[in-house]
Amino acid sequence: MYSTLKSQPVIIIIFGGTGDLNSRKLAPALYNLFLDGWLPDDFSIIGTGRTSLTDEAFAEKLLDGINKFSRRGKAKKDKWEAFSKHLFYQAADVKDVKTYKEFGTRIDKHNSEWKTIADVIYYLAVAPDLFPIIAENISKAKLAEDTKKTRIVIEKPFGHDLETSRSLNKLIGGIFNECQIYRIDHYLGKETVQNIMAFRFANAILEPIWNRNYIEHVQISVTEHLGVEDRGGYYDGSGALRDMIQNHLLQLLCLVAMEAPNSFNADEVRNRKVDVLNAMRKFEPEDIRMSTVRGQYTGGWMEGKEVSGYRDEVKVDKESNTETFAAIKFFIDNWRWKGVPFYVRTGKRMHQSASVISIQFRDVPHLIFPAEVSESWQQNRLIISIQPEMSIRLQVQAKRPGLEMALNTVDMVFDYKGTYASQAPEAYETLLLDTMVGDQTLFMRGDQVEAAWDLLMPILNAWEGRQSLNFPNYSADSWGPELAEALIARDGFHWFTLPLNGKK
Ligand code: BG6
Repeated sequence: MYSTLKSQPVIIIIFGGTGDLNSRKLAPALYNLFLDGWLPDDFSIIGTGRTSLTDEAFAEKLLDGINKFSRRGKAKKDKWEAFSKHLFYQAADVKDVKTYKEFGTRIDKHNSEWKTIADVIYYLAVAPDLFPIIAENISKAKLAEDTKKTRIVIEKPFGHDLETSRSLNKLIGGIFNECQIYRIDHYLGKETVQNIMAFRFANAILEPIWNRNYIEHVQISVTEHLGVEDRGGYYDGSGALRDMIQNHLLQLLCLVAMEAPNSFNADEVRNRKVDVLNAMRKFEPEDIRMSTVRGQYTGGWMEGKEVSGYRDEVKVDKESNTETFAAIKFFIDNWRWKGVPFYVRTGKRMHQSASVISIQFRDVPHLIFPAEVSESWQQNRLIISIQPEMSIRLQVQAKRPGLEMALNTVDMVFDYKGTYASQAPEAYETLLLDTMVGDQTLFMRGDQVEAAWDLLMPILNAWEGRQSLNFPNYSADSWGPELAEALIARDGFHWFTLPLNGKK
């Protein structure tokens, strides 16, 4: 599929062209795709924003972002010059239909220059309240009539709750076909996340043990060292549940729990993920106290620097009830997983930045070794580390070398760094390329987004309806509120963490 791309001209119109997402992620990703030879000979990237800029000034802005954030470091002069010829800027008011007529003129100009009909991608890297108006104006200007050649990419958050995500789906779905809509969850583009399916479904040895008979519990933990930084305005209306669990963590959970799809077809894969979401046990109001924990960070010291508490962050309400940490115990009521708890947690300003899935297997049925030789005995664990370490490790027991019989836990490790010499692409490289070739496997379908909101609505309602009396309740540089330890400890487990190895 990717091989057809070279000959298919493409125009990418980035709404929010002068914004942070473009500088940090989209521009570096497009530039790396160009360097690796993935972009067609004829392509054009048109940034749009309210600021008035020349094409050159826009290119300079992107260069700055690339130099700072590209995985390859600073751009080389000759390559950059070749790439920047494809960059254009149009100052525009996205609420004004005239803007879209100008886009139409630009598209026609490229088409006649390239003597073909190019694919056109509308990338909405803007605040979510602008999604509807942009989609409507694209439609009014008749810029999305060709369902095979035009696509719209929508960043998260896709809706603020079930109701708003339903109306957004309805509105966008009334303008674009589902096959034209690319809802981003950037976690799905991460190399290690894509590997979960490969690992599960390309290896025969896993399937027989991948179920309630052998797996005792699963943990999915995405902790972040940073606080909300300069995103307080957005975050205070969102919180950890909306910002991370509704999308990234539930998607990771689906990848661990899904049945094998019939093929690697986008809808086959997404059907199996929706099955998981639909099988998840719904929360009754009385379950919420025992199955969920929310937290908010206080100020403190991190690596010798004083950091603000959440309520003192810029653009955050001084009495904010927004959670910066959430932990939830889920169940999936289906044949494979009945009775197996899935614990998820995520938080900001935590001790370590790490995204790790830990699958703990059941204990041996009978221990033949005396207690004193197996002091550090531990059940088998499979640990999928998504970032910053990219690895999969299986923890097993082994005999420690020596004359005595003594057991300890050792790791059998597949480490990306040690195995592959090449650098993994960034998630946005994969996702942008997939948008260009029209592969929706790694994008959220409308029903997936709604199913995820539906699952979380009782928790959102309970948390919003009841002010947390103990906020802020965890200190910066900690592992979150003590209640989160209790959530898992009640079942006899503890949160798994990878050794730090000097990384925070
Ligand atoms: C984003 C959230 O979707 O994901 C951020 O809005 C969060 O709050 C980020 O920091 C984490 O992504 P990554 O790729 O850095 O793990």
